[in-house]
Amino acid sequence: MKVTIPKEIQTGEQRVAVTPDSVKRIAKKGPEVLVEAGAGESALFQDQDYLDAGAKIESSVENLFRNADIVLKVQKPLFNEAIGKHEIEMMQEGTALIAFLYPLVNHDLIRQLAKSKINAFSMDAIPRIALAQSMDALSSMSTVAGYKAVLTAANALPKFFPMFMTAAGTIAPAKVLVLGAGVAGLQACATAKRLGAMVEVFDQRPAVKEQVESLGVRFVEVSTEEESETAGGYAKELSEEYKKQQAELIHKHIVKSDVVITTALIPGKKAPILITGKMVEDMKQGSIIVDLAVDFGGNCELTEPGKELVKHGVLISGLTNLPASMPFHASQMYSKNIEKFLFHLTDENGLKMDLDDEITKGSLITYKGEIVHKMTLEAMAAD
Ligand code: NAI
Repeated sequence: MKVTIPKEIQTGEQRVAVTPDSVKRIAKKGPEVLVEAGAGESALFQDQDYLDAGAKIESSVENLFRNADIVLKVQKPLFNEAIGKHEIEMMQEGTALIAFLYPLVNHDLIRQLAKSKINAFSMDAIPRIALAQSMDALSSMSTVAGYKAVLTAANALPKFFPMFMTAAGTIAPAKVLVLGAGVAGLQACATAKRLGAMVEVFDQRPAVKEQVESLGVRFVEVSTEEESETAGGYAKELSEEYKKQQAELIHKHIVKSDVVITTALIPGKKAPILITGKMVEDMKQGSIIVDLAVDFGGNCELTEPGKELVKHGVLISGLTNLPASMPFHASQMYSKNIEKFLFHLTDENGLKMDLDDEITKGSLITYKGEIVHKMTLEAMAAD
């Protein structure tokens, strides 16, 4: 079995799917591991590290894709400008691909993978069950993003985060508001708290209140009887009445905040708008919004993907793909997740394709030319 690791080609992507440490463990189980020359460089893993770990270095990306049984990637396959071919086009029928595919929104890509008979698994679709915890790359990358969002804000804020009592007077702590208390939001709360800020968090799922309060953070909530969570623990879309109350609550808290970190997502949907232009207008001059939901449309009406802009005196950061800006540890975490996933899916004979297995079934998107993932099919039907 040949497992291959190409260099990521998305603009700004600095992560690599598999680190030399993981290569060592994968190669030990038997597969031949091929790594594209320079694949780990931007994450500080050199070709020599991969060679020492037992991989072969391949300088032709076409050979790398063509000879693969399993391709391990971070980002979805893209058109490779340098050689004028799409990454999907370079793979042979029956090749397995493991990457972040976001099949609930990337419908054309999924159709293309099925048409090319690529057996594609999506890292973001791995069920969040106890058995798959070590494969949970969504959580790993959200941890990086939540941490980095706070550092981005702290760096740009013209104020201290902590309270200081100095001979030059007392400095009040910064006020940080976090919207959405999933993995990224909780990490943002913990990081801002460690830096000494006063932190508040809002989430539509009251279930997170306890987790938030255990971090010493204040939970602000809309009082409602409305069911706000799916059976799987994700947020669901709420009524107009709820949204109105929510907007009033956020407005009340945002005008007092120095920093707002937004992380609210609803799987398979555009991110909810929680901050309107009017709210930004009413914020304090010099405040900062870091919109982590930008990859899914953003939580702030004024966010522009990939840009940092000042509007009404407020800096709005819409920088995309924050995990790529901390490539060493982000790659290390992702690599551990993908390695565990690979070991789950394979045995000494290659891919097991046990379609009764919950993790396989939950993450397999295309198989033998068909789209087989139930939620993806439902999302496509509703399109
Ligand atoms: P996510 O990235 O899908 O969403 C982030 C947060 O935004 C969520 O907490 C959600 O409730 C909130 N949100 C969505 N719309 C909102 C709105 N209009 N207003 C306010 N907040 C809004 O969430 P993530 O981090 O993927 O976690 C989702 C669930 O998965 C959580 O219940 C989490 O505890 C659970 N989980 C389970 C794991 C496991 O069992 N292995 C691991 C990680 C997460």
